[in-house]
Amino acid sequence: MKITRKLSEDIYYIGTADRRIALFENLFPLVNGVSYNSYFIDDEKTAVMDTVDRFVSDSFFDNLDYLLAGRPLDYLIIHHMEPDHGANIGSLIEKYPDMKVVASAKAIQMIKQFFNIDLGARAIIVKDGDRLELGRHTLHFMTAAMVHWPEVIMTYDSTDGILFSADAFGTFGALDGCIFNDEIVIDSKWYDEARRYYANIVGKYGIQVQTALKKAASLDIKIIAPLHGPVWRKNIAEFISKYDMWSKYQPEEKGVLIAYASMYGNTETAANALALALADRGITNQAVRDVSSTDTSELISLAWKYSHIIIASPTYNLNLHPKMEHFVTDMKALNLQNRTVAIVENGSWSPAVIKNVTEIMSSMKNITIMEEKISAKSALHHNEPIEKLAAVLAGDIRK
Ligand code: FEO
Repeated sequence: MKITRKLSEDIYYIGTADRRIALFENLFPLVNGVSYNSYFIDDEKTAVMDTVDRFVSDSFFDNLDYLLAGRPLDYLIIHHMEPDHGANIGSLIEKYPDMKVVASAKAIQMIKQFFNIDLGARAIIVKDGDRLELGRHTLHFMTAAMVHWPEVIMTYDSTDGILFSADAFGTFGALDGCIFNDEIVIDSKWYDEARRYYANIVGKYGIQVQTALKKAASLDIKIIAPLHGPVWRKNIAEFISKYDMWSKYQPEEKGVLIAYASMYGNTETAANALALALADRGITNQAVRDVSSTDTSELISLAWKYSHIIIASPTYNLNLHPKMEHFVTDMKALNLQNRTVAIVENGSWSPAVIKNVTEIMSSMKNITIMEEKISAKSALHHNEPIEKLAAVLAGDIRK
């Protein structure tokens, strides 16, 4: 059955939506599923660009059978081995015994690891600058190691100007019939989700993303075809500039994320008071989030967005509240840089938040921890410390 749309004269989208999945990587909540993108090139030689997750295999194989219409599949081009794309590699290799597998050396090694298949002469190992002629199409390969796995490559089709970008430029969210970015509303809410994908999946590897962007800069890219989310064929520069900013760890906006943990409401009251005091001073670009009811992936996305981050937490087992500890250590694990952080601690007998946050975050790159801090014993009873911190913060945000 045909379940496809065309990207160009002879290139087809053969991915599919998964709207049943609740957690991507069994970790990140999905509000509207995810798409697994795969592409088919119907040239003198036929080629498939990646497969899909095993939960949606049937649709992929149906589509491929329909498009091949009895012809052999000549090439499988593997950009990324993570099983949300690579799950059907073993089945394809078995189904098409003459098919060649085009991938990095590392990916060929991973095929052995995942499927216990030794490809031998069927493997075509590619590196930067290698080409493959399919007939009308010429494919050019470039390595993109650690965006976000070591075996990743991207492919540029110089015939139609399409960059097959692997996970880069991917996003969460199932695609409906509208698979192109100019068919959907790309607004700030959409970018919030795109950033959540970028920061949590690829964020740690900013240097490697920068390297990939530099390699792609000389290409005449008309379409970006990622492994998740919409295919970009309009305003490509806009999305590339977001990636450039995110991968340089530059804040997207001057503003503040107030992330708080609170067991009985006292730290929450302080966080709310600070938000109001900031708004009083004209700092309205703010997000206030309870770390206990907000998924860490959303907090990470907001940390990538704003220039300033306020950590407000009670002391728990002489450390941070566990939910806050997860957020703070995740920012460090993902290599967040270039932010200004203010700390509000609470503790009824031995407050330890300032000490612990300072220890964790001072080892991160270009993180400024503000001198002005608040240390509460159980609860705040006067506005003075809040107003003082808000004044200093507002001045710093406006700088
Ligand atoms: Fe979408 Fe890294 O796999």
